[in-house]
Amino acid sequence: MKVGLFQFAPQFGEIEYNVSKAVNHILKEDVDLMVLPELFNTGYLFASAEEALVMAEPIPEGYTTKELTKAARKAGTFIVAGLAEREADKCYNSAVLVGPDGFIGRYRKVHLFDKEKFWFTPGNLSFPVFNMGRNKIGTMICFDWLFPEVARILALGGAEIICHPANLILPFCQDAMVTRAIENRVICITANRIGIERRNSCGEIEFTGMSQIVDADGKILLKMSKEEGVSTAFIDPSKTHNKHLTKHNDIFRDRRPEFYKAISCK
Ligand code: ACM
Repeated sequence: MKVGLFQFAPQFGEIEYNVSKAVNHILKEDVDLMVLPELFNTGYLFASAEEALVMAEPIPEGYTTKELTKAARKAGTFIVAGLAEREADKCYNSAVLVGPDGFIGRYRKVHLFDKEKFWFTPGNLSFPVFNMGRNKIGTMICFDWLFPEVARILALGGAEIICHPANLILPFCQDAMVTRAIENRVICITANRIGIERRNSCGEIEFTGMSQIVDADGKILLKMSKEEGVSTAFIDPSKTHNKHLTKHNDIFRDRRPEFYKAISCK
């Protein structure tokens, strides 16, 4: 299976420009799955909750999800992409999964980072695992990486591939995702963005790039630098089914959840 990610610097507020740029890249590639960054259509640094809500779109009937669905159909591929979602008066930092047969599902970011707490409502859909043809994928968004429970829940739910749209600012995630892959025996695709976003009203943020694909044994199959572009890799999702670490260790069956209650009720 061939998978890819598109790393770029979205132009803040230029939704049509950002969507058409990503779609043009997707249509040029021959991949089974393409992952785009978090908030790839709007950019990141909102001035207020009101501004985020104005730019957010309903899913699946909004412009961005419709354009991604058209692209998925045309390219015969699956796409995971991060975007701001509007539902009534609430705004979520969401990701959609679309495929050749249309819209499949959404995930709403559960762990909001820093000022995102002012702009978005925390996700309320838990951590769904979706069918992608014969494969199963889960999605988490950027700062969710810091909470190992997320990747664990997705893997226990059967996810073979974790798609991870991101707008990373801190330098730790890329290393941490290697551990997420090893401790769950899943493939992790982190599609980060690049560039410095400057807003007169609220300062500036620099994003770290270094998007990567990590195999189920923790091997880094590709790591970008800070360049714009698509990178691709071949993966074998069936490798994620064998959770044996040694002859006598199965990383899922060896868990002792009866001793883990402290992390689920505090
Ligand atoms: C982040 O969660 N966008 C850092």
